[in-house]
Amino acid sequence: MQTVDRIQDKALIGGEWVPARSGRTFEVRNPSTDALIATVPDGGAEDVALAIDAASAALPAWRALPGIERSKKLRTLYDLMIRDADRLATLMTLELGKPYAEARGEVVYAAGFIEWSAEEAKRIYGETVQAFVPDKRLLVLRQAIGVTASITPWNFPAAMIARKMGPALAAGCTMIAKPASKTPLTALAMGELVIEAGIPAGVFSVIPGRAKEIAEALLSDGRVRALSFTGSTEVGKELMVLAAQHVTKLGLELGGHAPFLVFDDANIDLAVAGALGSKYRNAGQTCICANRIYVQSGIHDRFVAALAEKSASLKVGDGFGEGINIGPLVDDRAVVKVEEHVADAVAKGATVAVGGHRLAIEGHADRFYAPTVLSGVTRGMKIMEEETFGPVAPVIRFDTESEAIRLANDTPYGLAAYLYTRDASRLIRVAEALEYGIVGANDGLPSTPQVPFGGFKESGLGREGGKWGMDEYLETKIVSWGIEPAPAEG
Ligand code: SIN
Repeated sequence: MQTVDRIQDKALIGGEWVPARSGRTFEVRNPSTDALIATVPDGGAEDVALAIDAASAALPAWRALPGIERSKKLRTLYDLMIRDADRLATLMTLELGKPYAEARGEVVYAAGFIEWSAEEAKRIYGETVQAFVPDKRLLVLRQAIGVTASITPWNFPAAMIARKMGPALAAGCTMIAKPASKTPLTALAMGELVIEAGIPAGVFSVIPGRAKEIAEALLSDGRVRALSFTGSTEVGKELMVLAAQHVTKLGLELGGHAPFLVFDDANIDLAVAGALGSKYRNAGQTCICANRIYVQSGIHDRFVAALAEKSASLKVGDGFGEGINIGPLVDDRAVVKVEEHVADAVAKGATVAVGGHRLAIEGHADRFYAPTVLSGVTRGMKIMEEETFGPVAPVIRFDTESEAIRLANDTPYGLAAYLYTRDASRLIRVAEALEYGIVGANDGLPSTPQVPFGGFKESGLGREGGKWGMDEYLETKIVSWGIEPAPAEG
């Protein structure tokens, strides 16, 4: 087994590395081999209460620090993440199975959010607005919202935390992070770097543990003024109910069901490469991966053949293996769900162009699934309604532009969509008509730290990334300032 020199296996609360108050722990295992990697605190309500106390105590000084000083600390954190990219990537591959090169790419992506936020910390601008009367001045101030929290998923163990804590800390907020129970080790290692960067105790805490108990404890304490969550729409809706108690601001990055439209006039090689990149990133376990690939009739058969051929050439195996493109799925349930979706589609008339089965990798757990292309997919199949979260590419034929737009928008989700065409007018027409927060136009990988990430409809609320990500952590205040008349002279 690949190892790292050190694994942080305690929670970070108020600058101290501590066990859970209850003494409870849980195991973190490698999904590729089932090997035990670490035993970490199984935090709950008592730990959250301590972290909120620490975050509240740290808030006044952190918020009062000039933005340039917060910026310097975040820049140091960025430098440390780049310094430790190999270690963070190794931890990520150990706890998630993500292929090492991809895991390292994620660390650099994650560090990019910290670097961008470091710059934004210097650029929190207010405004002055003209009053309707001569004896008033109107100042619009932007101020840190206060103590915040984040709940993040296992599929991007570094990037999802960085995308939340970067802007939160830049804005002058403190944050309590609850990482996914499958992947707490990358988050804890990032906590170590926060301390090394000189960010004061209590500004950032990390509590692995029971999601429901921790979420309830965070949202039942009125001192927590914002919570950012990435995960399922179902859980997002539950958090909205909990947040009503204290009208806590929510940032929600929820599920998706991304359509990927390929028009007859597309560059077919680019479209196939884009579909591969989008579909098989993290073994298809992303919220923005192509879930429904609509291909216009004129190139449908050629596209399916090319996608199947390229899919078959991808290497599946242990994330530390040489040249591996696709690692294991995260757990047994994930594999069963993929199998169910494929079986349901086939039973309802779809054809397996390639894949459609597990792959046995010697000495490893039975969680590897072959990259799969299905054609003849139609509405009414499970794969068309639910996120598969696995390496399965369903292809659907369409004839006209308006039909493609209608099919693409026919879902409660609105996170990411893709389109491939060489016709510039069509590109703009379709991009504008898609009811999605993110559109990859001739681009299968639209995520990058400087732009907003987030969805329409049931895919969420708010945006992360770029200057827009700062808005989640800033309050807007108006100071209406009355001016006395000048004293009489002479
Ligand atoms: C996600 O799947 O939620 C994140 C994907 C990304 O940041 O590109």
